[in-house]
Amino acid sequence: MAYLGIDIGTSACKALVLGKDGNVLASYTSEYGLDQPQTGWTEQNPKVWIKGAKEAISGALSKIPNSNISALGLSGQMHGLTPIDKTGNVIRPAILWNDQRNSKEAAEIEALIGGTDKLLKLTNNRMLIGYTGGKILWMQKHEPNNFEKIHIVLNPKDYLRFVLTGEFATEVSDASGTGLFDVFRRTWSDGLLDKLSFDKSILPKAFESDIVTGQISDVAAKAFSLPRGIPVIGGGGDAVIQTLGSGVIKPGNLQTTIGTAGIVAAALKSPQENHLGRLQVFCNLAPDLWHVMGVSLNAGGALNWLRTILGSKQSFSELVETANKTDPGASGLLFLPYLNGERCPNPDPEARGTFWGLTTHHTSGHLVRSVMEGVVFSIYEISSLINAMGIETNLVKASGGGTRSELWRQMQADIFNCPVSTTKGASEGAAFGAALLSGVSQKNWDSIDEATNCCSELTRNMPLEKNRKTYSKAYEIYSELYDKMKPSFRRLSEITLSK
Ligand code: XUL
Repeated sequence: MAYLGIDIGTSACKALVLGKDGNVLASYTSEYGLDQPQTGWTEQNPKVWIKGAKEAISGALSKIPNSNISALGLSGQMHGLTPIDKTGNVIRPAILWNDQRNSKEAAEIEALIGGTDKLLKLTNNRMLIGYTGGKILWMQKHEPNNFEKIHIVLNPKDYLRFVLTGEFATEVSDASGTGLFDVFRRTWSDGLLDKLSFDKSILPKAFESDIVTGQISDVAAKAFSLPRGIPVIGGGGDAVIQTLGSGVIKPGNLQTTIGTAGIVAAALKSPQENHLGRLQVFCNLAPDLWHVMGVSLNAGGALNWLRTILGSKQSFSELVETANKTDPGASGLLFLPYLNGERCPNPDPEARGTFWGLTTHHTSGHLVRSVMEGVVFSIYEISSLINAMGIETNLVKASGGGTRSELWRQMQADIFNCPVSTTKGASEGAAFGAALLSGVSQKNWDSIDEATNCCSELTRNMPLEKNRKTYSKAYEIYSELYDKMKPSFRRLSEITLSK
């Protein structure tokens, strides 16, 4: 008996096979890119997800010929509008979570409902720019021909579900990220949808996350080399389901993720008030559990960007080594990671990435360090919003590709001023959570609580006093910069090239 988790990420698809005992039997990652047709726009053709999923599944399964997969769990990047026509074809490339084109439409939805406070009462979330709701309106306004063809809108992992099972379905965590979901009652928000200009029938049925939503069809069995008929469970949006791999399902611990995005998340026992809508409060993977998070749009993505523009042939670990040769605080160089606008803590599509404090003394190693530090300052700033909800930070459980760097883990310990651990599941990302949840759905574990017992600790970094002092001074300056620069970002946007 084994469980397969598939994660449709932003930069890759990962397939992971988990044994009954929670050990990873095999995994495989197939990478792909994204398109940026204009500044602030991000798109992907869903074909790349399907190709990636085929490669990742066959890559993982070929490592364990007699794997005996008994269920499959899906995870994926959230908020990606994937419009499908009535014949099941994709109408246009998916508009991704970090796309910033629909600020007007997102604001229009809030205004239509009578303001942010009223919307928060219906969904417990603002209509953030990345969310699906505003993107549907954007299509209606800017691509009426495409809009007319919409039969259903899916999230990325739910598109893969459709290809695998022929069923249109989503689950409560990803549905929360449309901004159209009543997170209190775990169902689509009629109060909001009745006021919008599109038909609510374009939204798929939303299941609880561990429920079976369909089986692998005959066609998919051949195309994906999977056993036909195995159950496909709801799964979860990546930012939610990866908390399962860290065991962050009980209130108390914070999970940080440094992937393409930077995320700070915690579990909630109730849908606590999302004050001013600065955070995202979503349904979690069990019917009595909720999730709070804040997402910074550029984390690992910022380091990737720097590596590209430096023309560096170095691997990430070699690049990070150049930063390791510099001192904490990067000799007075600060970085704001708003390369593609920002969502949290400063929701602003016009915010821009900034190096602040450059001198001729600075080397590329300082730039690398300052990007890494800026990413941690940004997630630390988000954590203070979560702390304000009464959730303390005693232990940070770090996840995402960023955990592979010892330096990035130590920076988190120093800047958060608390222990930072990684766990077996967290290093594997959202695909691990998806596989684990499918094991829960098949009763291999009695509850998600029990399932997380296999997320044993791998590393632990403690804060170092000598670094703390520099970082707290640097953070103080960092945290003042956005407000000071905001008016200039606005004026700068007037001369930004659109392509
Ligand atoms: C969550 C979010 C990102 C994406 C991509 O709100 O926007 O985590 O899901 O990973």
